[in-house]
Amino acid sequence: MKQYNIAVLPGDFIGPEVIDATTQVLDLVADAFDFKLNYERLPFGGNALDSHGHPLPEETKEACGKSDAVLMGSAGGPVGDHPWNKVAREFRVESGILGIRKHLGVFANLRPVKVFAGLEHLSPLKDAVAQGTDMMIIRELTGGIYFGKPSLVEENKGLSTMVYERYEVERIARVAFESAKLRGGKVTSVDKANVLDVSQFWQDVVIGVHESEFKDIELDHLYVDNAAMQIASNPKQFDTVVTSNIFGDILSDLAAVIPGSLGVLPSASIGGKIGLYEAIHGSAPDIAGQNKANPTGTLLSGAMMLRHSLDQSEAAKVIDDAVQTALKENPTGDLGGSAGTAEFTKTVIAALKLPEKAS
Ligand code: NAD
Ligand code: IPM
Ligand code: MN
Repeated sequence: MKQYNIAVLPGDFIGPEVIDATTQVLDLVADAFDFKLNYERLPFGGNALDSHGHPLPEETKEACGKSDAVLMGSAGGPVGDHPWNKVAREFRVESGILGIRKHLGVFANLRPVKVFAGLEHLSPLKDAVAQGTDMMIIRELTGGIYFGKPSLVEENKGLSTMVYERYEVERIARVAFESAKLRGGKVTSVDKANVLDVSQFWQDVVIGVHESEFKDIELDHLYVDNAAMQIASNPKQFDTVVTSNIFGDILSDLAAVIPGSLGVLPSASIGGKIGLYEAIHGSAPDIAGQNKANPTGTLLSGAMMLRHSLDQSEAAKVIDDAVQTALKENPTGDLGGSAGTAEFTKTVIAALKLPEKAS
């Protein structure tokens, strides 16, 4: 039987709740498809800061580096006045999140945004607007203003720096064009080239990659402010969107409104040897411990892990389909339904169309 070693970073608050739901489902699917997932749960996030003095302890980094894939819950504390937010930048939980992405070299973050047929009613947008949304936001993940130097806080000055090197833009552009090839054949590059030199550079490099390698793919450009408006008002026009680290972070939370909740969007971070899989939402301290977390984003991230890192695409599809059914039959509170995390997970499990085992 094939075995895979999965490094699991449950994190804080709802992180462990959505991870538990996901490993339950993954285990049933793995068993039916005749493979085994060996999980190693590792300290990560605010709880690791408390117990190990660092949000990304060395042992966690090392174990992730040796795994077949990394599955993350979510980490971080409440926004505002909290001890985890008062430590030096390198000890912030968010630096741990950035640290594991950088350590694994996963420069391309794929954030699919899809409104499944029959689930338009879960969107706060009009059915006709939400219906048919199927876009892939490709967010650059290991560069840009998140990592640029200098970066500092002084008494009378705060400074962050947005830098992109040519190779960073070229490689993310290639991921976007390759993705578009398998989808609708269109890439929209989002920048702020009307104001920012770094964005002008981004646009020039994307155009260069397009002209020399991907002439058959349609390419257009939008400024990020207009892109935000277009995503909210006419999401169907988008196929593959490629953008920088910070713009992708913001636009993907906005795009999560289309299917109905921040809780439903998954992500796959690829480009290194080992993939990292996490929902796009945070640790949601406001709803933690109340059976309210929607595990959909993490469940679908688990399916992306099966597809991208473990070559188990049939098993991945079984999870995708069951989640779709559960969203229809028994949605969670954030989507206007009444299911809690546990009830929703049970509905997903009941909806799994597992193959019969040979023996
Ligand atoms: P958040 O995503 O945690 O929560 C925003 C809102 O969405 C809250 O009202 C929350 O209840 C709701 N929500 C989020 N996920 C949900 C789910 N699965 N089901 C139902 N409702 C859900 O954002 P925030 O409050 O800005 O951040 C809280 C902490 O999480 C911060 O420390 C932040 O840095 C961290 N964070 C971590 C990650 C990650 O681990 N990858 C991602 C984003 C934010
Ligand atoms: C995300 C989060 C992270 C990011 C933070 C918590 C570091 O918002 O994964 O979207 O900005 O990348
Ligand atoms: Mn975010």
